[in-house]
Amino acid sequence: MKIQIINGPNLNLLGIREKSIYGDKGFESFLEELRAKYPAVEMEYFQSNTEGEIINKLHEVGFSYDGVIMNAGAYTHTSIAIADAIAGINTPVIEVHISNVYAREEFRHTSRMAKNCKGVITGFGLQSYRLALESFL
Ligand code: DQA
Repeated sequence: MKIQIINGPNLNLLGIREKSIYGDKGFESFLEELRAKYPAVEMEYFQSNTEGEIINKLHEVGFSYDGVIMNAGAYTHTSIAIADAIAGINTPVIEVHISNVYAREEFRHTSRMAKNCKGVITGFGLQSYRLALESFL
C-alpha cells in the first residue's frame, strides 16, 4: 500500500510552533515511529508552505497512490484550489488536524475541502495521522 502524507503551511515548525496547541514533537520523528509501526506501508512525506506545490503533489500522486493523508493547515479554511484538486484526482484523501479545530476560533470551523475528502480526523494530536492511516488499512 502506498500512502502520501502532505503537510501544508507552518507544519514544518511542529515541535517549535505553539507547543501548547501542537505539542513538542517534530513531524520527522513522529514519521519515523509511524514507519516502524507499519513496515508494510510505503509512506511518502511532503511538506510545503506553498499552495501550488501542494496542488502539484496531489496531481502527481492522485492517480496511482492508495491514499493521501493531508493536513493543509490554514489552507483548509481558505483554498478552493486545493479543494478542486482533491475533487479532480482518483486517490481518496483524508483531511487531518492535530488540534480540534471545532474547539478553536470560528474561522477554523469551516473546511473548503472536507466535502471532497473521504473523511476528516481532528483533535487527536499527531495520532490523527495514525488514525487516518488505520482507516486506509
Ligand atoms: C491545523 C489547524 C489549522 O486551523 C491551522 O491553521 C494549522 C494546523 C491543525 O493541524 O490543527 O496550521 O491544521
